[in-house]
Amino acid sequence: MTAPLTILGLESSCDDTAAAVVRHAEGAAPGILSNVVWGQTDLHAAFGGVVPEIAARAHTEKLDYCIEQALAEAHLSLRDIDAIAVTAGPGLIGGVLAGVMCAKGLAAATGKPLIGVNHLAGHALTPRLTDGLSFPYLMLLVSGGHCQFLTVHAPDRFTRLGGTIDDSPGEAFDKIAKLLGLPQPGGPAVEVQAKSGDSGRFALPRPLLDRPGCDLSFSGLKTAVLRTRDDLVSEKGGMTKQDRADLCASFQTAVADVLAEKSRRALASLSAEPLTAFAVAGGVAANQTIRYALRDVADEANIRFIAPPLELCTDNAAMIAWAGIERFRLGLTDDLTLAARPRWPLDEASAPMLGHGKRGAKA
Ligand code: KG4
Ligand code: ZN
Repeated sequence: MTAPLTILGLESSCDDTAAAVVRHAEGAAPGILSNVVWGQTDLHAAFGGVVPEIAARAHTEKLDYCIEQALAEAHLSLRDIDAIAVTAGPGLIGGVLAGVMCAKGLAAATGKPLIGVNHLAGHALTPRLTDGLSFPYLMLLVSGGHCQFLTVHAPDRFTRLGGTIDDSPGEAFDKIAKLLGLPQPGGPAVEVQAKSGDSGRFALPRPLLDRPGCDLSFSGLKTAVLRTRDDLVSEKGGMTKQDRADLCASFQTAVADVLAEKSRRALASLSAEPLTAFAVAGGVAANQTIRYALRDVADEANIRFIAPPLELCTDNAAMIAWAGIERFRLGLTDDLTLAARPRWPLDEASAPMLGHGKRGAKA
């Protein structure tokens, strides 16, 4: 067994300021020594979405606090850290810059190596941190900022099979919640409503199922919900609680159906590859209906299903520290010229994605 590596990870690409310490010795299970997340939901609540300038300022203010807290919880000081890993993109540029500048300052002051990590790689490598998964595996990333299928071959090698051409599913949940007068973040609120709703009452579209491949679209579904709400209001002068619950359940089932069918296709297209698992990550993977639908697809395909615990599915810095460990082991460190990148596709060879979501440029 080689000497353990202890890495401090920083994350600030969207609306969570996070710092974490992860330790790993080859041949042993990694340990998350601390995982501090300072969420900004309250700061953005009044605006109905993430305001990039407010996010960037909050990251700048809170990074120091999160780092101090992460080191204290790990019972370590900066001297005990072997390297500093930081999200260098993709994301809201002000936040990414705040993290990269902070990490550069720490690296310059301590002489420790600096590692720039792709945020999506952090999510995609999480099943190796939580479950010791071997390559290659299929990953579905479903969050407020991202939606894509990736084959993960190595810490620095990914193939993108498809992704959203407009909104992410998390954005769609958030917008539907807003349309129906529910609080943000919309996903959990819609899921609670859906529990008492009839998912078969409204026939909502299943976008792009008529098209081959793994690309997805959620913007038409959102418009269909808006139209259904407006029809109900003009027919009856308003919506009952039951109408709202039924609409939430119908929408949630439509999203689950689309994600399940596209996952089926992604797995079928990889049937010749020795995949070890089908893994999911991102806040939307917290949704039970969606999680169970995806697990069923994995069962049908006779492949292991992995959904990391929620706190490691959503944005966090432990995943960045872990991706940093993986890159460090491959000799992939950076110098002080490391750039913050608002767009940074994991698979540079795949076609660029369309659109900028409220959470920044889509990768
Ligand atoms: O991964 P995440 O914390 O942040 C990024 O966007 O990167 O994901 C947040 C998104 C939000 O859009 C939120 O509404 C959605 O995940 N979400 C859910 C649920 N919990 C969170 N969507 C559906 N059902 C849920 N239970
Ligand atoms: Zn994320």
